[in-house]
Amino acid sequence: MATERTFSIVKPDAVAKNVIGEIYSRFEKSGLRIIAAKMLHLTQEQAEGFYAEHKERPFFPDLVAFMTSGPVVVQVLEGENAVAKNRELMGATNPKEAEKGTIRADFAQSIDANAVHGSDAPESAAREIAYFFDDKEICPRG
Ligand code: PPS
Repeated sequence: MATERTFSIVKPDAVAKNVIGEIYSRFEKSGLRIIAAKMLHLTQEQAEGFYAEHKERPFFPDLVAFMTSGPVVVQVLEGENAVAKNRELMGATNPKEAEKGTIRADFAQSIDANAVHGSDAPESAAREIAYFFDDKEICPRG
């Protein structure tokens, strides 16, 4: 399996709960490397653009409001099978359905305030990484 990259967000609820480090630790313990990272408070435009594929969904305004409600941490994760590995670590979108021991089961409270985002495919990962990071901000390691 070739090395792959995925994009991840620690969402405002997890930042407010002070569990950034605990979530990073799970990435690292699983073998994923954090090769780019920054904290930012998304603007309305940034959040709407990032979630544009969901703009016709009824929850879109709530999702944008939540994602702009406080700071987030965005990161690029690299490693073997990174997209699937990160989704396994996150658990199901709805924390009530997330498997025990996953990030969402342990730190999230609802389907909107669900602690983390992770790309669902290598193609969306490439698009999402480019949405937040310039090439020179990414520091791959062997
Ligand atoms: S889908 O149909 O698979 O594309 O949608 P899904 O991945 O389940 O959800 C996409 C993102 O929307 C968020 N979401 C919601 N926010 C607010 N309210 C409701 N009801 C709701 N349902 C889904 C969900 O947390 C997903 O966010 P990301 O950041 O992509 O994980």
